[in-house]
Amino acid sequence: MNIGILTGGGDCPGLNAVIRAVVKRGHQFGYEFTGIKDGWKGLVALNSMKIDLDTVSGILPAGGTILGTSRTNPMKSERDTQAVLNNVEELGLDALICIGGDDTLGVAAKLFEKGIKTIGVPKTIDNDLMGTDFTFGFDTAVSIVTWALDRLHTTTEAHHRVMAVEVMGRHAGWIAVYGGIAGGANVILIPEKPFDIIEVCRYVDKRKEAGKRSSLIVAAEGAYPKEAGGMITKDKELDAFGHAKLGGVGEFLAREIEKRTGIESRHVVLGHLQRGGTPTAYDRILATRYGVKAVELINEGKFGRMVCLQGAHIKDISLADATSKTKTVDPETLRIAEIFFG
Ligand code: F6P
Repeated sequence: MNIGILTGGGDCPGLNAVIRAVVKRGHQFGYEFTGIKDGWKGLVALNSMKIDLDTVSGILPAGGTILGTSRTNPMKSERDTQAVLNNVEELGLDALICIGGDDTLGVAAKLFEKGIKTIGVPKTIDNDLMGTDFTFGFDTAVSIVTWALDRLHTTTEAHHRVMAVEVMGRHAGWIAVYGGIAGGANVILIPEKPFDIIEVCRYVDKRKEAGKRSSLIVAAEGAYPKEAGGMITKDKELDAFGHAKLGGVGEFLAREIEKRTGIESRHVVLGHLQRGGTPTAYDRILATRYGVKAVELINEGKFGRMVCLQGAHIKDISLADATSKTKTVDPETLRIAEIFFG
């Protein structure tokens, strides 16, 4: 059996841990591995490398991905889709393990319908994939946000300021909510619930009146003020999957709060710091469990599936179901966060 592996979309801590687990478990079944370089781009352009036990030795703690990644969407043109189908044959791939978020796995689901034996592994720091309690990479991102908030509390307090911290999370505010709870944010703003800037200022004013020396606001990049009616974008250009480049909500908050309350305000964009570097122990273990399960599904002859975490157990669900919609923050988790606002 020759198994293809690819990593697509934004990178994420734990990608290499999955690749290592796939190859180590697959080796026990006598499988061989072909790494596809730079996600779907490598299958369109036929850019690959052989992967064996030596290739994956020592990569468990490494951030990024040894295979490279891209946001190429081969479903955008019929020519590219056909190139992928031809190249799967050309490389002699018996199955293809796709490690990615909703975009990459959406392509894997469509290719399965076209006869390619795909398996998905849920990757994204955003934790917004359906059917799995957690994606790997999320815990690392939350840890980085928590680390940042601990530091921002002290400088913000020293200067009696308001600090708006912009974190990743396009359509789902999981990083903002988990990071905000862990880091003791005073207000958390997420895309699921457009905010009222007057209400945010009220929180800030009330804290000042109560003698608090600072306020820390965490906002997902996709959070937006009610009156704007849509997300704040950096530029109008869309990527191959139709996503706009988000950014600016932190800056907006700091500017508006200072203007409306008179309290000096600053903003910080944590950006790609949340995605880079070594995975936490939790993410290494989750990624490893996912990698093992992905190969075991192939060995059982089960395809068109995504490995997932349900409770304490690693299971699998159909790729079509997993990519049918975005997993947004549930009301109960938001309720817990809101108890600590103000
Ligand atoms: O991986 C998802 C994500 O982290 C989003 O939250 C964010 O909007 C996007 O990636 C940014 O990625 P890039 O700037 O690398 O395209």
